[in-house]
Amino acid sequence: MKALVILVSCLCLCLAEKVRYDGHKVLRLVPVTEDQIETLHIWHNEAHKRGLIFWGEPGLLNQAVDVQFPPEKFAAYRTRLNNLGFQPIVLFDNVQSELDNQEAARVTRQQQTPTLNFFTDYRTAAEIFQWLDQTAANCPAGATCTVTNIGTSWEGRELKVFRISNGPNKRAIWIDSLIHAREWISGATNLYFIDQLVNNYNNAANRAMVDAYDWVFMPIINIDGYQYTFDTDRMWRRTRSDRGDILGCVGCDANRNFDFQWMTIGASDDPCSNTYAGVAPNSEPEVDAVRAYIMQNPSYYGAFITMHSYSQLFLLPYGYTVDFPQDYDEMMRVANLSTNALFNVHGTTYRFDSASVILYPSSGTSRDWAKGVPQIKYVYTFELRDTGNYGFILPPEQIIPSGQETWEAVKRIAQEITFP
Ligand SMILES: *[C@@H]1O[C@H](CO)[C@@H](O)[C@H](O)[C@H]1NC(C)=O
Ligand SMILES: [Zn+2]
Repeated sequence: MKALVILVSCLCLCLAEKVRYDGHKVLRLVPVTEDQIETLHIWHNEAHKRGLIFWGEPGLLNQAVDVQFPPEKFAAYRTRLNNLGFQPIVLFDNVQSELDNQEAARVTRQQQTPTLNFFTDYRTAAEIFQWLDQTAANCPAGATCTVTNIGTSWEGRELKVFRISNGPNKRAIWIDSLIHAREWISGATNLYFIDQLVNNYNNAANRAMVDAYDWVFMPIINIDGYQYTFDTDRMWRRTRSDRGDILGCVGCDANRNFDFQWMTIGASDDPCSNTYAGVAPNSEPEVDAVRAYIMQNPSYYGAFITMHSYSQLFLLPYGYTVDFPQDYDEMMRVANLSTNALFNVHGTTYRFDSASVILYPSSGTSRDWAKGVPQIKYVYTFELRDTGNYGFILPPEQIIPSGQETWEAVKRIAQEITFP
């Protein structure tokens, strides 16, 4: 009995502990042979078993994939990579030391100036929701700002949507983020947009945005996963739904869980995979909440923008097929102008094309769903900064520049889109 108590309390302690990545290395691998591609696919499929963390997914020849290797396996993999003819580039020599450096810098910043600008750091879900409420309370005269709960996450957290409107009978632009938990810059950038529209409403260009469209934001879709990246594992991507998997694997890729071409390609049926599509389409309450909310009024949405990181891409549907969707040429025209506007701010380049052309195939994504089911005319995925210098652990100093440049891109979209 006593042994059991000790075992149980140890289990709890161990579970509560933060995952550390001491000595973990991240290598950029660019496959140039079929052999290399095939190996990467095998490693990706077996990543959980192998203790590898993929920062991206293997796709086509010449397409870089960033992979995190634990120190105890590094020598063996290094040999294997050399034998396969890879010429890896080291992105991180020690992931934990970068995490520690950023945390130390954050603590120092907070001690020195406790009332810092909201955008000088990444914020927890609680801080973000408090900020949303406060921002709604500061709604400019003549506009209406609302924070709506559109559902409850697997672990019981609220799923919140922020909306600003200054008049009836407008179409809406939807912008979401953090469907993948570790992609912190996506949420911070999204909040920057809200800040522009609400707290900088008197800026003529921002005001014109609200005159032309309603704006609907969902900053944290995968809130359980996001919380988990703060509490336990910074590299977590998936949801936190626990369905008693035999290996103890929790969650699925919410961005493979939408009910359009579900599990047809570029998704996994392995509950331990980072691209696990879930037990059924819409099985994740977070996904179902987004689906139900948009389907209440699908024709309301003129544009659907979903934000991820990283790699500086601007992706159009579809991911599940190389066939072009309706409005492809028009979406490309606007994407071209939008990425130009983005470039003009800080010289940051984004490539743009349909997801299946530029990236690996994927199905059950919110992007494909938004085009395929509610049939929103303009649908885009942003893969935000950077291109791999920091990847998911982009320093918070880049929040404001990322916000500035992508806000120009979003405004350009809003200026260009037209409807019959
Ligand atoms: C983007 O626009 C430029 C200037 O109009 C044009 O030359 C270029 O072909 C366009 N690119 C694509 C991919 O549409
Ligand atoms: Zn993502």
